[in-house]
Amino acid sequence: MGLINTGAAAQTIALPGTAPAPKRPAPRAPTGSVPRHVAIIMDGNGRWAAARHLPRLAGHRAGAQAVRRAIEAAIRNNVGWLTLYAFSSENWQRPEDEVSDLTGLLRHYLRHEVAELHREHVRLRAIGDRARFGAEISRELAQAERLTEGNTRLNLTVALSYGGRSEIVAAARAVAAAAAAGTLDPAAITEASFSAYLFTAGMPDPDLVIRTSGERRVSNFLLWQAAYAEYLFPEVLWPDFSASHFESALADYATRDRRYGTRPEP
Ligand code: FPP
Repeated sequence: MGLINTGAAAQTIALPGTAPAPKRPAPRAPTGSVPRHVAIIMDGNGRWAAARHLPRLAGHRAGAQAVRRAIEAAIRNNVGWLTLYAFSSENWQRPEDEVSDLTGLLRHYLRHEVAELHREHVRLRAIGDRARFGAEISRELAQAERLTEGNTRLNLTVALSYGGRSEIVAAARAVAAAAAAGTLDPAAITEASFSAYLFTAGMPDPDLVIRTSGERRVSNFLLWQAAYAEYLFPEVLWPDFSASHFESALADYATRDRRYGTRPEP
């Protein structure tokens, strides 16, 4: 593999009585470290509500409480980057009333939570096709991004109307346009330079992707960026996700053997 993101997790482990192997990539057996970037597919709001004979909106509202807990847990555990899949590009196909409930929840979140995020020194970003939410939400998102852009305690990214394939297609289109205009040499395109055309330009790749509710699917989330991520599929429904679930995920991650395609040491 050409471009290998060794990240903060890479560490050299010298076994007793063995000399470090020269000219080989550093062994990466159990990371033993905190992931720099955790990304979460928040799944199970509907099932949580159905189990309680409540409308789906109640599940999404409880899901918004779990968002708060995940942010607090990320801060407490020194995770620098947290990305949450709040609305996929496919979610527009849900019944109109559910789309309207989710949009309303997002508007409420922007109006009532951003000041608190700012107080907690959290930087908020949104990735995805935000224009589909309309001018008002787009403007409020831009304001929240501007307000919090100097914060460094936690980089919180919310994926909204986001789809990994369409993100890659949009990047390919921009690259092709630059090549056609003669401002980009196709032979000079690298993984790193291509990444700069994605919504996530400048962000580190996720180290750990969690999908709650026991479903084992990637669902078009960060397809390019999660190429070397570790995945975890806890059974918990998103509205029940707590700090201890977050910490169990970190503990599981710390036992993972990240090799990025290299061979394990003999
Ligand atoms: C998936 O559960 C969840 C969603 C489509 C929406 C996620 C939204 C939130 C957690 C709340 C709002 C968040 C913010 C940032 C304001 P599902 O409805 O697919 O559940 P199911 O698979 O059990 O039906």
